[in-house]
Amino acid sequence: MAKKAVTMDKLVALCKARGIIFPGSEIYGGMGNTWDYGPVGVEIKNNLKRAWWKRFVQESENSYGVDAAILMNARVWEASGHTASFSDPKMDCRNCKSRHRADNLIEAHSKGKVNPDLMSNEEMEAYINEHHVCCPVCGKCDWTPIRTFNLMFETSRGVTDESQNKIYLRPETAQGEFVNFLNVQRTTRAKVPFGIAQVGKAFRNEITPGNFIFRTIEFEQMEHQWFCKEGTDSEYYAQFKAQAWQFLLDLGFDAEHLRFHDHDKLAHYAKEACDIQYEFPMGWNELNGIHNRTDYDLSRHQEYSGKSLAYVDPVTQERYIPYVIEYSIGADRLMLAVLSEAYDEETLENGEVRTVMHFHPAIAAYKAAVLPLQKNLAEPAKAILAKLKKHFSVTYDDAGSIGKRYRRQDEIGTPYCLTIDFTTLEDGTVTVRDRDSMEQTRMTPEQAIAFLTEKCTF
Ligand code: GAP
Repeated sequence: MAKKAVTMDKLVALCKARGIIFPGSEIYGGMGNTWDYGPVGVEIKNNLKRAWWKRFVQESENSYGVDAAILMNARVWEASGHTASFSDPKMDCRNCKSRHRADNLIEAHSKGKVNPDLMSNEEMEAYINEHHVCCPVCGKCDWTPIRTFNLMFETSRGVTDESQNKIYLRPETAQGEFVNFLNVQRTTRAKVPFGIAQVGKAFRNEITPGNFIFRTIEFEQMEHQWFCKEGTDSEYYAQFKAQAWQFLLDLGFDAEHLRFHDHDKLAHYAKEACDIQYEFPMGWNELNGIHNRTDYDLSRHQEYSGKSLAYVDPVTQERYIPYVIEYSIGADRLMLAVLSEAYDEETLENGEVRTVMHFHPAIAAYKAAVLPLQKNLAEPAKAILAKLKKHFSVTYDDAGSIGKRYRRQDEIGTPYCLTIDFTTLEDGTVTVRDRDSMEQTRMTPEQAIAFLTEKCTF
């Protein structure tokens, strides 16, 4: 299916108007690249995280969850390589003082035809000068040389200067999974191959071109590390590629809006690496990553901690450091993709245009809206609302015409509207309106609960 005419401006406006996502610290003039989820947005994001957890932990044969601390021993980041080399190539415009990533400037200037990942800093500088790549803010071409800044946010621990120690807000959740490898293996008695998953906040001092929640300085990651024996790693890498793809299809993504992108330049420890890209409103870009990280992470933590992280096979007694297949996806980036995939503007028979979010019902903030046709039907409507609330997240609306109320629910993607009318008083049934087909069916509240349970399961 061709991509719909959704723009970032339309999404941002809808999200703000309907309580999905607000600009961070808005009453103080905002804070660049931070966003706050509103009452509708937090439900959708929680549903995405739940769906991911269900698929990759609950339904997995041998995967376990952790919730590790955000603040970790600083040695963790030395072992992982983040202290030494987690940086972006940044350039300042001497004219307007705005700061930019050299790789982003090259990508935008070449319209994605030149891959800056394959260039050294010197080569990027040369490209920018030779091709007169100018500042996107003021239009001048007067750049400082490239400088690299570590992306980790620093803070310090301790109450006096003497005891101050530099620590970091974690830039990824993955290390909390690696350092707990043996804790999880011993307490669950898991046999390799097995997985450790985590959902949590990560922080990066990023310069971003402002694509809404695509790249922010504080975000959530959903990461899964699969520990396996060397030799089986490529098979599991292929398996995770397929599972990550299927997860997106099951959420309702059109396969034509997704594609695999193999990395042109592999990190020194990686054997295989790819992204799944999505066609975001601003163009194709990374949605998630799948990496064969070899035994690099556990070996480095073994070296830096001085503690053995070898696994002992209970049958053969063989000792080895497992290989890791990592599958990593940002919850906020997935949210942006889900929002843009769901967005639609439909012209109705009467010529009116309705904006509708076609979320998978399991992902929608509210599974149903209870709408009394008239205000004097509030009592039976609230009784039905209370019954439904025991099972799902449900909303209630009695303000304005029924048509306007349907439109409001369409805009936040509520899959079903239950209307309480005068027939409800006679036989106890309600009408259930389907968001996508707009067809209505009468059923009892009990039948509606069974119907919603079936339709809203992921
Ligand atoms: N542990 C591997 C890792 O962190 P990554 O490619 O840097 O790899 C994984 O991040 C995923 O996290 C990305 O595919 C993206 O979905 C999300 N992500 C990364 N940086 C982000 C940011 N600044 N804002 C929002 N999401 C981000």
